[in-house]
Amino acid sequence: MGNKGFTAEAIGDQSGKVAIVTGSNTGIGRITALELARKGCHVILACRSKDRTDPVVEDIRKATKNDNVEFMELNLSSLNSVAKFARAFKKKGLPLHLLINNAGVMACPFKLSEDGLELQWATNHLGHFLLTTLLLDVIEASAPARIVNLSSMGHKMTSSLELDKLNDEKSYGPWNAYARSKLSNILFSLELQKRIGDKQIWVNSVHPGFVDTELQRNIPDLYGNFANTLSSWTSSLFALPPEKGALTTLYAATSPDIEQNDWRGRYFVPIAKLATTSKAAIDEEAAKELWEFSEKIIADKLGNSAFEEAEEEEEDEDKATHDNEGASTSGASATDD
Ligand SMILES: NC(=O)c1ccc[n+]([C@@H]2O[C@H](COP(=O)([O-])OP(=O)(O)OC[C@H]3O[C@@H](n4cnc5c(N)ncnc54)[C@H](OP(=O)(O)O)[C@@H]3O)[C@@H](O)[C@H]2O)c1
Repeated sequence: MGNKGFTAEAIGDQSGKVAIVTGSNTGIGRITALELARKGCHVILACRSKDRTDPVVEDIRKATKNDNVEFMELNLSSLNSVAKFARAFKKKGLPLHLLINNAGVMACPFKLSEDGLELQWATNHLGHFLLTTLLLDVIEASAPARIVNLSSMGHKMTSSLELDKLNDEKSYGPWNAYARSKLSNILFSLELQKRIGDKQIWVNSVHPGFVDTELQRNIPDLYGNFANTLSSWTSSLFALPPEKGALTTLYAATSPDIEQNDWRGRYFVPIAKLATTSKAAIDEEAAKELWEFSEKIIADKLGNSAFEEAEEEEEDEDKATHDNEGASTSGASATDD
């Protein structure tokens, strides 16, 4: 089931829609943003580096003649950055029809995020969890809408989340941690869809295929330069180009098949095929536990501070506007005098 012959040309008109694509300055996310923009969508490239993203925004605008393509700063390994992004997005007053949780890191050496959490899980799962839950009210108000979570067939490399060992450096394995984060992506999709119910919001996860991108950037640190050369060589021979690697995401984000078949909480593999996950990825109890665990960590780390900060920022901005108005008014009267 699905549409194996799906191509970017088959994507319907997306004008009037707004999409956020995380990690879209390169790889699969970049092509996802490009193809959505080509079909008239207002696309926000939610990325951590303005310097790396601005040229991509320019390229996409030129290639698509769509000026509604913009960068917004988002570092998924920082809960504060995610909360700040959500506030900045809401301030724009835009609707949100497509949320593509694409950004990811793979197989890094053990490292903790800014919030003191294992980096792959913090970036690939928890950042996207917070982003989605903070934007859910906007998504609900914009429905029909889609949420696509980029997982991987790598989710099958583990049979449980072992959240009690999340930050345990001694038992850390870079591939096992990647698998945990990708299993989390699917379990998050399941529980999110369950909580959303049968509203007009379709949440699905995707394995994009083996795609030639920068995802293997940690290989030299792990295995040295020879392994890196070997892995680049294998990628160039066997991996899909990003243009094809983005198709399954684009299908889940835009195809009318999703609504017509009411595919919710499902898993797609290349190209645009419905597939089954591992047993661990359909464990509803684990999905619920993951949700509660994620919520608790966020409450412990952020509390209400992110929202209090938002109010403070707004007050500061209101004050600055007021002061400026005051200054320009007094400037005007001085001139008038
Ligand atoms: N390529 C594959 O074969 C493959 C297979 C299965 C699944 N996937 C999944 O597909 C998704 C896209 O990967 P890709 O292959 O396109 O990899 P990629 O070329 O390495 O792109 C990853 C993107 O994620 C961004 N990112 C990383 N950490 C971030 C953070 N803390 N905050 C914000 N953005 C961050 C990167 O930004 P910077 O450039 O700033 O680092 C980059 O834009 C990932 O979720 C990956 O797990 C890929």
